[in-house]
Amino acid sequence: MENNTYDFGLIGLGVMGRNFILNVADHNYKAFGYDLDPEKVNALIKEGGNQEKVSASVEITTFISALSLPRKIMLLVPAGKAVDAVIESLLPHLSKDDIIIDGGNSFFTDTDRRETYLQSKGIYFFGAGVSGGAEGARNGPSIMPGGSRMAYKEVQPIFEAVAAKFNNEPCVAYLGPKSAGNYVKMVHNGIEYGLMQLTAEFYDLLKKGGQLNNNELHQVFTEWNKGDLQSFLVEISAQIFEKKDPLGHGQLVDKILDKAKQKGTGKWTSQNAMDIGIPVPTIDIAVSMREISSLKEERMLASKKYGRGKTDLIEKEKLITKAGKALYFAFIITYAQGMHQLRAASNEYGYALSLSGIAKIWRAGCIIRAALLEDIARVFEEDNELANLLLAPTFSEKILESVGAARELVTYAAHNGIPMPGLFNSLSYFDAYTSEQLPLNLIQAQRDYFGSHTYERTDKEGIFHTDWS
Ligand code: 6PG
Repeated sequence: MENNTYDFGLIGLGVMGRNFILNVADHNYKAFGYDLDPEKVNALIKEGGNQEKVSASVEITTFISALSLPRKIMLLVPAGKAVDAVIESLLPHLSKDDIIIDGGNSFFTDTDRRETYLQSKGIYFFGAGVSGGAEGARNGPSIMPGGSRMAYKEVQPIFEAVAAKFNNEPCVAYLGPKSAGNYVKMVHNGIEYGLMQLTAEFYDLLKKGGQLNNNELHQVFTEWNKGDLQSFLVEISAQIFEKKDPLGHGQLVDKILDKAKQKGTGKWTSQNAMDIGIPVPTIDIAVSMREISSLKEERMLASKKYGRGKTDLIEKEKLITKAGKALYFAFIITYAQGMHQLRAASNEYGYALSLSGIAKIWRAGCIIRAALLEDIARVFEEDNELANLLLAPTFSEKILESVGAARELVTYAAHNGIPMPGLFNSLSYFDAYTSEQLPLNLIQAQRDYFGSHTYERTDKEGIFHTDWS
């Protein structure tokens, strides 16, 4: 190994890291990895085949001297303390203008703090969300970088080479300063939570309301994936329904415990949406549903207390058609909420985000890739300041065609006790957002009644208070 000849360094050779670095090496960039675990280092060297192209070490000094200047070092380590620890271990070895890229799901304010800290040491730092799981990392992820534009120029050719391609356009773009990349990835994950909750609800609906078995579910999701609903999550759900249980009879999906875990990015999306005052109820409920799912023992007790009557069945074809429309409606609402949050965050944090640019880099490689993103990109290309997707004519047409099915299925699900809170919340959000008059005048009156919080009037300018008693 000659010193200073490798174009790209990667720290953290777990599944994501190993796949990402092999992807870099496939695109004629020489890449060098670093991990404290010799097994991971050896696994990479073995899989990489040619050490001239891709190599690795457990020694930080070997890693540092392998890289050309300015060093481009990507971290794919768990978010949180590990990122700070790796930065500290790198610092004594780095040269001015070296670049550290955090490719994990770091909380955006951590990225801001790290950027400021490293700036004072002459090191560039930027957060780049990477989506697509292990398969994406290996064959083309969607990459969401933010931070110093100068530093981005250095890594741009590598990122553009390794990213997924949609119509030959790489699914990576400079998104904005500071933590813009991590923020966008966080909202990506919030949308991911919403879409996953919705697909799970519709799976439940088809099973309970139409008695569809796994083979039929496979067929329905496969068909859906050929039309408006075409998306990665619908596609993999179709495949999941037909996967045989490797340890027993029947399909694996039926044997999986219904307690969903989470690593926090969906929760952060909801929390921050509250902080900046943007309603994202479909995402909120998706987080709450993971929490309810984890209360399995309590749910088992409660289900005994409050049994359900028999479910009214709906004729299969009718149900499938309605469900397809209603799911499409709720998918649109989920993206609308996520994009709304991005629009607001862009102003709040000075990211100057291009919403069409974001929709474009989500069209391939990432978990929320979907045919819908083509329309979303087009709408924001026409008007980057559009407050909400629901206000765009392209989307009002789609909504008007699908909202009826959503209403019917909400009524049906409520009547039969089928939990579909993602769909309910999407519909309520839509109904509230499209109401000229909401009853919150009463809330203002109550606030003024008990706390003299004052109110505004519809017919006069100014702030008013009334002695209500
Ligand atoms: C991606 C995903 C990924 C995320 C997992 C797990 O875009 O590739 O968003 O980054 O870590 O989906 O998230 P949860 O464990 O919170 O479900």
